[in-house]
Amino acid sequence: MASRLNPLRRLRVPPWSEQRPSWPDAKPELIDAALARALARPAGNWYVLGASTALRAGRPLGRTVAGVELVAWRGTDGRFCVGPGACPHLGAPLCDGSVHGNRLVCRWHGLALSPSGRRDWTPYPAHDDGLLLWVRLDEVGGEEPLPAPVVPRRPPLEGSVAAVACAAGRCEPEDVVANRLDPWHGSWYHPYAFAGLRVVSAPPPVPDCPADDDVFVVDVAYRVVGSLGVPVTAEFRCPDPRTVVMTIVSGEFAGSVVETHATPLAPGRTAVIEAVRAHSNRRGLALTAPLLRPLIRRASHRLWRDDLAYAERRYSLRNP
Ligand code: FES
Ligand SMILES: [Fe+2]
Repeated sequence: MASRLNPLRRLRVPPWSEQRPSWPDAKPELIDAALARALARPAGNWYVLGASTALRAGRPLGRTVAGVELVAWRGTDGRFCVGPGACPHLGAPLCDGSVHGNRLVCRWHGLALSPSGRRDWTPYPAHDDGLLLWVRLDEVGGEEPLPAPVVPRRPPLEGSVAAVACAAGRCEPEDVVANRLDPWHGSWYHPYAFAGLRVVSAPPPVPDCPADDDVFVVDVAYRVVGSLGVPVTAEFRCPDPRTVVMTIVSGEFAGSVVETHATPLAPGRTAVIEAVRAHSNRRGLALTAPLLRPLIRRASHRLWRDDLAYAERRYSLRNP
């Protein structure tokens, strides 16, 4: 059925209960070892705050990361700034302030804060990679700081559509990452989205593994409607302890990425910020972007409703 114009194929897959059980392959020690390696990678104290598009000109944005209250804003020069969320004067929430020029003005008594800060209010290193906003919190991370975050490789802007979806749950970032390091749950746990998932290769169930082999490769069909779907081969890697990147390596949309970022909000509370950059050499993807973006976001939200239940369950088993 797939053609130059139509990427859909009719999927021939057994009913849900007649699939081959995946649990014999989904070895807990393998997932644990992959997670331990991911958690040992450096992130240079960088945390994803949200989508670049979440920051509107002239309007500050309030966020909390690992219990640290933050305010973010973009000045008229386009520069992205992040600083402590409480006003150094009497503690007003700076996210209620407003942006004038490049400065953030507190609503309570008009104290104007510039991106260079002042003695009692020091901005944090911040980075806007065009899709996501990042902040560096050295006291929270406690690692050797990196000058910039580890930004995954993404497909070119031309021919791509990007969307970012956010959710939050009662868990830690490692529970979000562990969920993604169990690709075997795909067709069983998300039958509405995936069919015929087969893990082609996985890292060995041992503590050490060369970086090149630390990857899961999966054949899967993404269900679009009913028994129609798009078969792809995808790989999953963890570039840092709070990120899992799925890259489509062959099939339709090759080069597309789904980045899952887990940002701690407070003890036992974590945000999932999922950025999709879908890429296709077919003409017209960019034209359908306004239609596709909400669909991609809705699909991410639906998957994450279930995956957060998985992550929360993992967390609650650890913290009864
Ligand atoms: S609390 Fe911000 S200026 Fe007074
Ligand atoms: Fe999942």
